[in-house]
Amino acid sequence: MTDGRLHLSAEALERVRRPLKQAWTLPPAAYTDESVYALEVERIMRRSWLPVARVDQLAAPGDYLAFDLFGQPMMVVHGADGAIRAMSSVCLHRAAPVVAEAKGRRSLFTCPYHAWAYDTAGQLVRAPLMDGASGFAERDCRLPRFPVEIWEGFVMVNLDPGAAPFAPTVETYRRYFASYRLADMVVVRTLDYAHDWNWKCLVENFMEAYHHIAAHGQTLEPAFHAADSRIPDNDGPWSILHMPAAHPHAEGGLPLIEGLEPWQQNDLVAAAVFPHFLIAVQGSAVFWYQLFPRAACRLDLRIHVCVPAATAARPDIDELAAATAELVALIHGEDIAVNDLVAQGLAAPATGQGRLSPLERSIWQLNQWWLDRMTGGAPAP
Ligand code: FES
Ligand SMILES: [Fe+2]
Repeated sequence: MTDGRLHLSAEALERVRRPLKQAWTLPPAAYTDESVYALEVERIMRRSWLPVARVDQLAAPGDYLAFDLFGQPMMVVHGADGAIRAMSSVCLHRAAPVVAEAKGRRSLFTCPYHAWAYDTAGQLVRAPLMDGASGFAERDCRLPRFPVEIWEGFVMVNLDPGAAPFAPTVETYRRYFASYRLADMVVVRTLDYAHDWNWKCLVENFMEAYHHIAAHGQTLEPAFHAADSRIPDNDGPWSILHMPAAHPHAEGGLPLIEGLEPWQQNDLVAAAVFPHFLIAVQGSAVFWYQLFPRAACRLDLRIHVCVPAATAARPDIDELAAATAELVALIHGEDIAVNDLVAQGLAAPATGQGRLSPLERSIWQLNQWWLDRMTGGAPAP
């Protein structure tokens, strides 16, 4: 529970609210304080559309992914009727989750405690030894559902039953990526990480190319110069970082996505839908950074390498995907090093806010969106 107030000083927040050229970062407590995190969960995470799967990860009836989403054990399931649903995985009897964090294929979800069994739509179909319970009927029991929207092949879930639709809020953003045909992508590799960082540290790191000059000095900077990066205005809860390539696309590796403009074949584009739906697209693949914030300074991360279905069907895909994953791990290793430093610095007593570079417009965009939600329009205390 929170008291519903954001305990950051009005003076600090005023600096965040300034136009980009005068703006400062969020104060350190925004990244380290558990009460701020609890308010984020209440105000942002439980009210936002979050990507929980790709439809290709749930290709057949009975396929499911189970996970904890901000304290809600849940599963997304490809039903026997073909529909993809998100539902609570908490048993309706005495609250044991019917399935652990996992993935698999099942026709029934049987609770490990007293063996109540649910079908792929969450309907209770068997409750042993309940004959004497008056007025009890299995048909009246169904696991609670959450809103689901399939967007460009991503399964988006919202914990708020009254959530407004997702797609209209990202229409401009969607058009930007239309020729990449995101809906046609499939996951060919996933890398798992656990980090002692606030989730915003990763979003910020992902959404600026300024750090290429130091953190990726030998890797990304020679190919995508920090100084060339640009970030357009947004008209919704999203940000796009365009990193023009210094050199044309080199042959070899994964084949190019068909139908791209020349600049799309070469350039790297990182994109965020707030709070933390992150993708990086490049001429041949999409890298989906799936974040699972766990605490103020705790984050699980899955990086998925996604390619067009036709590429995934190639006989040499294992080799190509492994080489791409190796590159992703190399770059992320460089980011781990600097994010670990930031986490250390943010926790220090003498640390304050810092000035933003004009190259960090995405961070500024995120901060404005974040403050709108965290303060609910009310003046800070
Ligand atoms: S708690 Fe699930 S069957 Fe009892
Ligand atoms: Fe980086």
